[in-house]
Amino acid sequence: MSITTLTGRTRLAGVVGWPVSHSRSPRLHNEWLRRYGIDGAYLPLPVAPGQLGTALRGLRAAGFAGVNVTIPHKQEAFALSDVLSPAARRCGAVNTLVFGPDGLLHGDNSDGQGFLDSLRAAGVDPAAGPALLLGAGGAARAIAASLQAEGVAVHLANRTRDRADALAASLTDGCNPVRVLDWASRDIALGEQSLLVNTTSLGMGDAALPCSLDHAAPGLVVTDIVYAPRVTPLLSLARAGGLVTVEGLGMLLHQARIGFAAWFGVDPAVDASLFDFVSADP
Ligand code: ATR
Repeated sequence: MSITTLTGRTRLAGVVGWPVSHSRSPRLHNEWLRRYGIDGAYLPLPVAPGQLGTALRGLRAAGFAGVNVTIPHKQEAFALSDVLSPAARRCGAVNTLVFGPDGLLHGDNSDGQGFLDSLRAAGVDPAAGPALLLGAGGAARAIAASLQAEGVAVHLANRTRDRADALAASLTDGCNPVRVLDWASRDIALGEQSLLVNTTSLGMGDAALPCSLDHAAPGLVVTDIVYAPRVTPLLSLARAGGLVTVEGLGMLLHQARIGFAAWFGVDPAVDASLFDFVSADP
C-alpha cells in the first residue's frame, strides 16, 4: 500500500500499543489487503499508557473500523468495551476492538482461538489429550481458557507458583479444573502430556530452555508462543528428538484473521508464503 493510494473511502484499522514499532501486525494486515485488493490500510498507532480512552474516541471519530490492542492496553481495553465476547470475558483482556455501527465498542480476545486454529492448521488436534502450559501471564490465560473450553485437561507450571495458583483459580470450571504442577516437576510431567505450550519468555533472544524433553511422551506435540526466532531452542530440541512442533508465528497469524474479517469483510488465508513474508525483515 502506497500512501498515495489512500482516499477518503479507504477503510482504516491499526494496532494500538506502547511501544508498537516492533509489531508485525501492520506488515501482515497490509499484505492481506494487497492480496485481496481491498481499499484499506492498517497503521501502527503508538498510544502512551493512560491515553487509550482518548485515542479510541479519536479513532472512532476519524472513521476507523477497529483496532488491535497490544501491551500495555489489553486490560484497559477490556474495561472500556461496551460489549464483550465470551473469549474476552474468559481472558479479562481484549486484543481486538470493533467500532460497531450500533455506536458500541465491541471487545474480543482472539489469542486463544488463534492458538487452536494454528494447531489445527498444522494437522494437530488440540483436544487430543492433556496439555502442560509453562508460564502464567496473559498468553497462558488465553491459551488455557481456550483448551479448557475444548474439554482438554490443562496443567499449569510457573516459576512463581502463586501466579499459577491464581490463574488456575480464576479459570474455575466445575467439570474441568485447571491443575497446577510444581515448576520443578515439569520435566517429569511431560511423560503424561499430549501437548506442551511454552508461554514464558525463555527462548527469546537467548539459548535458555524452559524445560528439558528428556521424559517427553513419544507423541508429544511441542509449541512455543515465542515467534522470533521462528524455531526457538525448545522447538529445535523437540525436532531433534523427532517430536512434532508448531511454531508460535502461526498463533500470531491466525489470531489476526479474526480482526481482519471483522474490519474488512474477508476471512484471509494463512499459507506458507505468509509465514515467510511476515518473519522476513521489512
Ligand atoms: P505474557 O502476559 O506476555 O504471557 P508475562 O506476564 O510477562 O507475559 O509472563 C511471562 C512468563 O514468563 C511468566 O510466567 C514468568 O514467570 P514468573 O511468573 O515466575 O515471573 C515467565 N518467565 C520469565 N522469565 C523466566 C525465567 N527466567 N524462568 C522461568 N520463567 C520465566
